[in-house]
Amino acid sequence: MKNSYILIMDFGGQYSQLIARRVRELGIFCEILPFDISIDRIKSKNSDGIILSGGSSSVYGDNSPKCDKRIFDLDIPILGICYGGQLIANYFDGKVMRAQEREYGKSRLNIVDNDGIFEGLGDELNCWMSHTDFISELPEGFDVIAKTESCPVAAMKNKRKNIYALQFHPEVNHTERGKDIIEKFLYKICKLTRDWNMGDFAEEEIKRIREKIGKGKAICALSGGVDSSVAAVLVHRAIGKNLTCIFVDHGLLRKDEGDQVERIFKERFDMNLIRVNAQKRFLSKLEGITDPERKRKIIGEEFIRVFEEEKKKLDSVDYLVQGTIYPDVIESGTDKASVIKSHHNVGGLPEDVDFEIVEPLRELFKDEVRELGRSLNIPEDVLMRQPFPGPGLAIRVLGNITEEKLYILREADYIFRNEIKNAGLDEEIWQYFAVLPNIKSVGVMGDGRTYAHTIALRAVNSSDGMTSDWSKIPYEVLEKVSNKIVNTVDGVNRIVYDITSKPPSTIEWE
Ligand code: XMP
Repeated sequence: MKNSYILIMDFGGQYSQLIARRVRELGIFCEILPFDISIDRIKSKNSDGIILSGGSSSVYGDNSPKCDKRIFDLDIPILGICYGGQLIANYFDGKVMRAQEREYGKSRLNIVDNDGIFEGLGDELNCWMSHTDFISELPEGFDVIAKTESCPVAAMKNKRKNIYALQFHPEVNHTERGKDIIEKFLYKICKLTRDWNMGDFAEEEIKRIREKIGKGKAICALSGGVDSSVAAVLVHRAIGKNLTCIFVDHGLLRKDEGDQVERIFKERFDMNLIRVNAQKRFLSKLEGITDPERKRKIIGEEFIRVFEEEKKKLDSVDYLVQGTIYPDVIESGTDKASVIKSHHNVGGLPEDVDFEIVEPLRELFKDEVRELGRSLNIPEDVLMRQPFPGPGLAIRVLGNITEEKLYILREADYIFRNEIKNAGLDEEIWQYFAVLPNIKSVGVMGDGRTYAHTIALRAVNSSDGMTSDWSKIPYEVLEKVSNKIVNTVDGVNRIVYDITSKPPSTIEWE
């Protein structure tokens, strides 16, 4: 029997991957394909349902993305979200209008028809809007099923053709019961049942990697973090001993981390592993560099140069496996999304790379990577390691990097992490670390004046790193950390706690 399949047509919205993620969470296999794929290709997919994503264009714009109209005659349920919904209104001769002001944020959704996609969801919900245009006139054959104060058609349906359009975004967490709305579309409208999980993803991906690499050889950029560990195990399952993991110690790791990673990988995984001690070359390339983006680019390039050198030693290696995940891709900027920061393995890559890059996790979010790791039987302590960025402490020492600053930061970070663990908070907090903001201030110790560094503590909760909240660590724990750092780490006389969320901040300081 064929597995359920949902086709997501991408009109360039910032949440397209989130739609895919929700569909996967609901146990249905899906694919994101560009809006302009041919009708024959769409037909060949034998899809059980189609979701049209949001996008930043206006349906009346000259170059606005449009899909083949014939999808509406395929007798397949269709759900249009935001721009996708406006496109449906446009195709069926309804009207779309430009609002006076862009509507962005929470709106109260008034549900007027509980049949179908809103079944069991009550009369009102908070929903997340992000649009300028809106459907102002209902097309023929459609009924309004929800409104908001500013949108007369916040949702509409054509029951006979099984076509639904939503002006809001059910895929984002801020839409109350948004996932239930997608679930209703999948289970009730498309009549699907859960028949896919991360284990299936692993199998499909292993098959795909085998087909791509064949009998070729690959190296894997292993940092010991969750993403690269899962990528390594996945590719190892596909090509076995033809994979060699390269762990580069760039001198920007946390206290004792290099030895720990080497030990874990040697003891737990039967994989070829080479440790490259490249501390000196990275630090000399970074000397005097203060701009965060330059640091990231230098590190990204230097990693590649190290891998190229290792490649030469190993002979006939053509592929470089990286544990890139979706937030790395989107933050590094795409042709549609702007650059937030160049993740070392995406935007930080040099243009001339002597490898074919393999990135099996490129479409997944962090928690999905952990779930995939579980399906591959990777031990929980490896999977639950907190995220650590590839550029390491280089982006936690603000401004220019020196051995002395790295030493201070390592010691302070070590104390912070230990105290969080001692307080039993390590499983609760998603990511926690120290930052050296490069600020010196005056203090008094004993009877003398000090002029020393400040350490900032950062601790956040998140599910995927895309957004986060600062953690409300108990004062007693913060106090203990502060006393311990100031009393034992020379060169520090002040501790501050970062209480900003993402957005408007980011998790790392650079
Ligand atoms: P930001 O600072 O962008 O971080 O809010 C989101 C998550 O990504 C991690 N991060 C990186 N991971 N390479 C990585 O592998 C990078 O260049 C990089 N920059 C940030 C960060 O630690 C957080 O978990």
